[in-house]
Amino acid sequence: MTRQILVTSALPYANGPIHLGHLVEYIQTDVFVRFQRLRGHRVAYLCADDTHGTAIMIRAQKEGRTPEQLIADMSVQHQRDFAAFGISFDHYGSTNSRANHDIAAGIWRNLRAQNLVVERSVDRLYDPVQKTFLADRFVVGECPRCGAAEQYGDSCEKCGATYPATELKNPRSVHSGAKPELRPSAQLFVRLTPLQPMLQEWTQRSGALQAEVANYLAGHFLDKPLQDWDVSRPAPYFGFEIPDAKGQYWYVWFDAPIGYIAATREWCERTGQSLDDWWRKPGVEIVHFLGKDITYFHTLFWPALLHVGGYRLPSRVQIHGFLRVGGEKMSKSKGTFVTAAKYLEHLDAEWLRYYYASKLGNKIDDLDFQPDEFVGKVNSDLVGRVVNLASRTARFVEASGLSARYPDDGGRFARAAAQREAIAAAYEACDFREATRLVMLLADAANEYVEQKAPWTLKKDPARAAELQDTCTVVLNLFHQIAVYLQPVLPQLAAKAGALLGSSCDRWDLVATPLVGRPVAKFEHLMARVEPDKVQAMFTPELSAAPASAPPAPAASADDGATLTKEPLAPTITIDDFQKVDLRLARVVAAESIPEAKKLLRLQLSLGGGTTRTVFAGIKGAYAPEQLVGRLVVMVANLAPRQMKFGTSEGMVIAAGTDGEVFLLSPDAGARPGQRLH
Ligand code: MSP
Ligand code: ZN
Repeated sequence: MTRQILVTSALPYANGPIHLGHLVEYIQTDVFVRFQRLRGHRVAYLCADDTHGTAIMIRAQKEGRTPEQLIADMSVQHQRDFAAFGISFDHYGSTNSRANHDIAAGIWRNLRAQNLVVERSVDRLYDPVQKTFLADRFVVGECPRCGAAEQYGDSCEKCGATYPATELKNPRSVHSGAKPELRPSAQLFVRLTPLQPMLQEWTQRSGALQAEVANYLAGHFLDKPLQDWDVSRPAPYFGFEIPDAKGQYWYVWFDAPIGYIAATREWCERTGQSLDDWWRKPGVEIVHFLGKDITYFHTLFWPALLHVGGYRLPSRVQIHGFLRVGGEKMSKSKGTFVTAAKYLEHLDAEWLRYYYASKLGNKIDDLDFQPDEFVGKVNSDLVGRVVNLASRTARFVEASGLSARYPDDGGRFARAAAQREAIAAAYEACDFREATRLVMLLADAANEYVEQKAPWTLKKDPARAAELQDTCTVVLNLFHQIAVYLQPVLPQLAAKAGALLGSSCDRWDLVATPLVGRPVAKFEHLMARVEPDKVQAMFTPELSAAPASAPPAPAASADDGATLTKEPLAPTITIDDFQKVDLRLARVVAAESIPEAKKLLRLQLSLGGGTTRTVFAGIKGAYAPEQLVGRLVVMVANLAPRQMKFGTSEGMVIAAGTDGEVFLLSPDAGARPGQRLH
């Protein structure tokens, strides 16, 4: 029976590039989607950029452009990256679309009609100078947990604490520098308790959730009355103004998942289909893929909105863990935060698709990118065990083609075909690790046969030409089966295998019938081996990578005269005086803490071309050594060496700051070590 399946990946935020972590999700979803298409089902794969909220507003402001310009740019970048990894969306939309606004407004009307919206006054921070309420990210102050300075009103970048903006110590407005006041603001909430029985039923009994997710919700949320959900934000906010509440905007998480429906509507309009046929018709499966960090948005709020809007509830929410690199969180300063674009500068997209697939089970465990394992899986599994089947046989039958009748192969082809339900079940369960493992066992069996028959020996004996042709016919058929089985993971490899053997590799059932009596195309290179150096190169920090916890942009308030008063301007000098100081860009190639010195780090600076300097810098309080490696700094390169307790300092690193504050300077992108500052 043909199933009708609507599949989504979470909508990536428009405020940053696609990175290797995101790709765990998009590759995983794409494998599932391609598998379902290969099985002949009717699939819609939808996604969009998630464009609203304060983070986007702030970034656009910093970059001196409108949020609309920023999101248009990011959408192009995101879609380019996804295309390069073979992610086969049917439609890619944006949450800042007419369709999304209208669908959100429809759901909102239903919420109002069902008396599920309540208004309550909440005390929020207010900027008395600018006369606006302040979103969390427009307030900075000291972290209430660890005391770190210059933290935003929602979370601390130093210790990771999250808190309400009202708990920041010494808060000030990013706009005016004024100390915010608490003022009552009318906020809109969605009442969830009336929907709790429905959510209880859907989360615990519908089978839509992985067992660990269902248990988590039962134990952390559904064991008590659900809190009302705060869905409005006061202006200024980049988003949709709430139709019946002037000056109030829907919180980004209200309209973000509605983007799934909006993308479907745009796709339906483009292709002459009906939206209801996908979102309201019984029997259609709705499958969401997402990471564990956004579980409760998709398993509590989202089904509540769907239910109220009269849409069908998801039949499956498939949640995955987070990508780590070498056992640690991805980190910009360590170079392990790798964007999709950077990966592609060094490596092939299909390698990553296979690597992730071979590691993904149906659990929510985190996934670790291990460079050695990556190289091993690609070079030994893919190239050594799969691609080699074709490269060791295809050339021998370029002239003769495949045998006219499928030879006796000792039951090998039939045994591999018989695996198709087991492999399909693994794909269906999103246990891609098991699916690829089963296929690799088939590759092993095929390789045994190649070894045993040794076609390269047969080739030497013209009397055994028929046996050679039969042997190659068997091996290429086993290869063809494997290419079809792996098509969801490796669509390009499957297409090349198809071109070689005149097959489309686009139907699951192709594994059941051997190819015979057809020509074999000239053998073209199918897949290269990974060079381990390239994996290392990918993990090298960018030249001017900003420290992982870049302090927020200085607030306007700090532009008052207090700093100058504390440290008045120095007497005038001539240009010649200035020219005496040789300021250069230098790259930090090594950084270590001097345990006996409170403030000092020992830095190894490179001026390019092998010229290095050792410099002691009093910046330990502000920067961790590992944050510095790879970044550019400004140094005084012609300062007389100075003997210090811990060694000789051959220069000085320039930093701004008074009263123990330290801010290193970074050049704009493109600058190189050794360049002089004029
Ligand atoms: N915009 C929201 C989702 C809205 S869905 C209606 C969001 N965006 S995101 O860009 O931060 O993440 C997009 C998806 O990528 C999420 O499912 C998230 O869990 C996943 N990942 C982001 N970083 C990840 C890793 N490091 N590892 C694995 N998945 C990660 O959340
Ligand atoms: Zn903190």
